[in-house]
Amino acid sequence: MRTYLVTGGAGFIGSNYIHYMFRKYDNEIRIINVDALTYAGNLENLKDIEDRDNYTFIKADITDKDAISKIFEENDIDRVVHFAAESHVDRSIRNPEVFVHTNVMGTAVMLNCAKAAWELPDGSYKEGKKFLHVSTDEVYGSLPDDGKSFFYETTPYQPHSPYSASKASSDMLVKSYIDTYHFPANITNTSNNYGPYQFPEKLIPLIINNALNGKALPVYGDGMNIRDWLYVDDHAKGIDMVQEQGRLGQTYNIGGHNEKRNIEIINIIIETLQEILPDSDPRKANVSKDLITYVEDRKGHDRRYAIAPDKIKEEIGWEPETMFKDGIKKTIAWYLEHMDWMENVTSGDYQKYYEDMYSGK
Ligand code: NAD
Ligand code: TYD
Repeated sequence: MRTYLVTGGAGFIGSNYIHYMFRKYDNEIRIINVDALTYAGNLENLKDIEDRDNYTFIKADITDKDAISKIFEENDIDRVVHFAAESHVDRSIRNPEVFVHTNVMGTAVMLNCAKAAWELPDGSYKEGKKFLHVSTDEVYGSLPDDGKSFFYETTPYQPHSPYSASKASSDMLVKSYIDTYHFPANITNTSNNYGPYQFPEKLIPLIINNALNGKALPVYGDGMNIRDWLYVDDHAKGIDMVQEQGRLGQTYNIGGHNEKRNIEIINIIIETLQEILPDSDPRKANVSKDLITYVEDRKGHDRRYAIAPDKIKEEIGWEPETMFKDGIKKTIAWYLEHMDWMENVTSGDYQKYYEDMYSGK
């Protein structure tokens, strides 16, 4: 049975990945989820799987060398899937240091501990051990708004925000381990994800939440910036396929083939809410395009991101499967059915969930 060490599994993509992996492999794998439970980590995301015998949660900080090496000493880890990071560009502009600490130092600790646990005296590695570093397309910088230039694995890094600079640094560290120590790793650089369990500081859940509450829908700048949106389950599948079928040492870009301007996204959310909310729901009256409010632009705001996922398609056979029109409906329906989740994360009640859950253990 393969044992996975997943970092940041209580966050948005990590929790969706853990759900995906148990749906796919059920009892054939074991997952240890290590998460520091920052504001973005929420154990409620995992409450339907937390009682599984093949799942363990450990509250630890990835920058804590002792805690991480102990996990490697006590468990024979076969796969590391490294999600844990500070992930929000706006926060990185206000407070860059925590991004450097978690994203760069944390990745260095994860690499060192995995290497120490897996390396044999002759410099080779125990059979079948693999590390996957989850990164972003934002490391490549910004594309012109021409609809025909794309990010490839060979595109030079040109990060602009403290977030993307810290992720670029962490990618470089992983590359250095591959080159210097032949460390068995892959890197994935992925476009903007959307789906259930995303913290409502990011565009899509923020707009859904504000629209339902009749609050202003803030559009940065002219609203014409472009992101390439990928449904989170498609990302989870891509990560698993890269780890199992990818060539070790390689980077794979994972993209949605789905470029949209921010203002288009906001309009689609409003129209979808108006379509699916029943007339009897009092929130329906709140949902209106009149809520759209243009605000000051983000500093250093990247204009356009777009991935050409040719390499992962050709080598591994992965392609995005979820059409945006279906994915956004599923996502909105999920938030409507989980308003308690939204209220808990916005009120900070989920911090109590952890204390209630683990206070007796
Ligand atoms: P998230 O902010 O929702 O979750 C991050 C998780 O990491 C949280 O559970 C948090 O508690 C945990 N964490 C933070 N600091 C930690 C620390 N020091 N030690 C242990 N755990 C810590 O982020 P996300 O959107 O799920 O992103 C996950 C990964 O995917 C990140 O590495 C991010 O850079 C990358 N990524 C995200 C997107 C996206 O659209 N969200 C796109 C491409 C790549
Ligand atoms: P975000 O979800 O923060 O992801 P990223 O910055 O990693 O791409 O933002 C997506 C886009 O939406 C980005 O161009 C910034 C813009 N945006 C707004 O216009 N208003 C908002 O309130 C937020 C959070 C983002």
